[in-house]
Amino acid sequence: MIMGRKNKQLLYPSPAKAAIDATKIQSFVSSHARKIVTVAHVHEALSEYMPFVQRAFNKEGFAFLTEYECPKILKSGQLLLWPLEEQIPHRLVVRSVSSVAVSCERKNIVEQRRKEVSKHTGADEKAKLGQFLTPRATSDFLASLFDGRGKRECRLLDPGAGIGSLTIAFLENEKLQFSPIKITACEIDTKLHLDLAKTLEATDTEIITSDFIETAVNWLQFEPERRFTHVILNPPYKKIATSSSARNLLRCVDIETVNLYSAFVALSIKLLDDGGQLVAIIPRSFCNGPYYKSFRKLILRETAIQQIHLFDSRKSAFKDDNVLQENIVIKLEKCAKQGDVLISMSADDTFHDYHVSSFAFSEIVKPLDKEQFIHIPTSCAPCQLDQLPGLTHSLSELGVSVSTGPVVDFRVKDFLSRMPTRLTVPLLYPAHCGLNTSVWPKPDIKKSNALIIADQTKKWLFPLGYYCVVKRFSSKEEKRRISASVISPGTFGNVLGLAFENHLNVFHEEKKGISAELAYGLSVYLNTSFVDNYFRCFNGHTQVNATDLRQLFYPSREILIKLGKWAMTQEELTEERIMDWMRATCREKYMPNLRVTTIASAC
Ligand SMILES: C[S@@+](CC[C@H](N)C(=O)[O-])C[C@H]1O[C@@H](n2cnc3c(N)ncnc32)[C@H](O)[C@@H]1O
Repeated sequence: MIMGRKNKQLLYPSPAKAAIDATKIQSFVSSHARKIVTVAHVHEALSEYMPFVQRAFNKEGFAFLTEYECPKILKSGQLLLWPLEEQIPHRLVVRSVSSVAVSCERKNIVEQRRKEVSKHTGADEKAKLGQFLTPRATSDFLASLFDGRGKRECRLLDPGAGIGSLTIAFLENEKLQFSPIKITACEIDTKLHLDLAKTLEATDTEIITSDFIETAVNWLQFEPERRFTHVILNPPYKKIATSSSARNLLRCVDIETVNLYSAFVALSIKLLDDGGQLVAIIPRSFCNGPYYKSFRKLILRETAIQQIHLFDSRKSAFKDDNVLQENIVIKLEKCAKQGDVLISMSADDTFHDYHVSSFAFSEIVKPLDKEQFIHIPTSCAPCQLDQLPGLTHSLSELGVSVSTGPVVDFRVKDFLSRMPTRLTVPLLYPAHCGLNTSVWPKPDIKKSNALIIADQTKKWLFPLGYYCVVKRFSSKEEKRRISASVISPGTFGNVLGLAFENHLNVFHEEKKGISAELAYGLSVYLNTSFVDNYFRCFNGHTQVNATDLRQLFYPSREILIKLGKWAMTQEELTEERIMDWMRATCREKYMPNLRVTTIASAC
């Protein structure tokens, strides 16, 4: 049942007209149920006065929900066709069809041009200028994210414009009715200028043919009138060397960043008017890690994140160019109040399974996180980790450190030994590590099992003891990203120490072992799928680095030790049993008065 409907003010006046053609309505329902449409779209499809339409849909068992019923999902002018019998959704998994009817001819020509240019540009050249032009479907999607309401004049910036695919998608999106529109397209590659000019002919466009970084820094310093209401961009991706002139130029306007893509976005944010909007397709790498901290801070200080779109497949956005990069689309609004964030997803650039959900900002950037990692929740279910009380401890609060294994094998080839001898210590690789356990030596692995003790290698050795280790790399296909094991001293006999290879992260206490219970507690906790899911929300790579493990939240040391003790006595450890144990123990400790009542549900 749709709740609260009776008390709602009537949205449309009561009609006094004969019924509308039912087959028209049924066909509309079959293609648009549970989807967002616009008032204009309904009107166009049915050419009927809205109040009559509403009544006809009611007869078919559907109603149009509006921004009043679903303020978190719908904006003014948007409607959601929803079954009367179902509860009003407060989060949404639907496909938007609001921008389907855009004029196609000019975009077809530009798409053809893009394919030609892409075909005739060599891989080296593409890599040199980061020249991966955006296919039409993705360009349309980026343009569809801008709000069309409220602003009349538009000054649009397209930095690194290529042949203008993004700008044309913006111009031809019927939702975006601005007037006048002034365009500034900046493209450094002279070979593209003619195509760019052709794409944008008959528009009010200025093509800037110089380096965007140089140009934007000049505008910011000397031309306060050069500001924009909208920026749409697919910037080049390339590292910027620490001592390069680009890096020095960026510092003149207080931008500290390591890649061209973040530099382009940072400059664009600074060039936006207050209330201006930016939509960009960029790699996901800025969401975590120390190198992009300053860039994240700039985004969070100067803009509100309104939407993030994630493609499930890493290849999908630029499949013609074989770009294996995890890309996201992000929509920002300058100087706006940060509210909930829409997270949308699609398997690829056909957007056939596009779905969107709304999340509290605190689920995107954790309030206590000094690193300000940007998490992208990948499921509609709220993160289980957030629901357990007491999972609030940092690693340093546990008195535990984590380090990358110090032995880089190809640098110490002369000190590697396939099997142990009197003069070696065990050398541990991921190949020795299983789920909460380890096996050593392994005669049939390709790697060495031991490291020769010498002056050069002594500094890397850890004393024999219990440790928890986590593999640094997993393949995209592997089920879990975080894979933890316990290293137990009993495995090794009488040895002088342990060496950890660089593909492992090691949990230790001041370079010494930790208690057996704590090692097991940590390992079991890290191996749960709720930690793994949580980790995936903010880490797009398949790498798990020590910094990432330092960013996680853990149960208290006391609970981890209890968990370890319990786990060591269990014959079989299943995910379900671990989760039950965690729930019961955390609740008992932190919410002793909570009574859990099960309410029988009618559905
Ligand atoms: C990833 S492509 C995207 C092109 C276009 N925005 C699109 O979406 O199809 C990046 C573009 O930026 C241009 N570019 C690279 N470095 C630049 C610079 N420093 N200043 C201006 N343009 C640059 C490249 O030549 C390339 O056309």
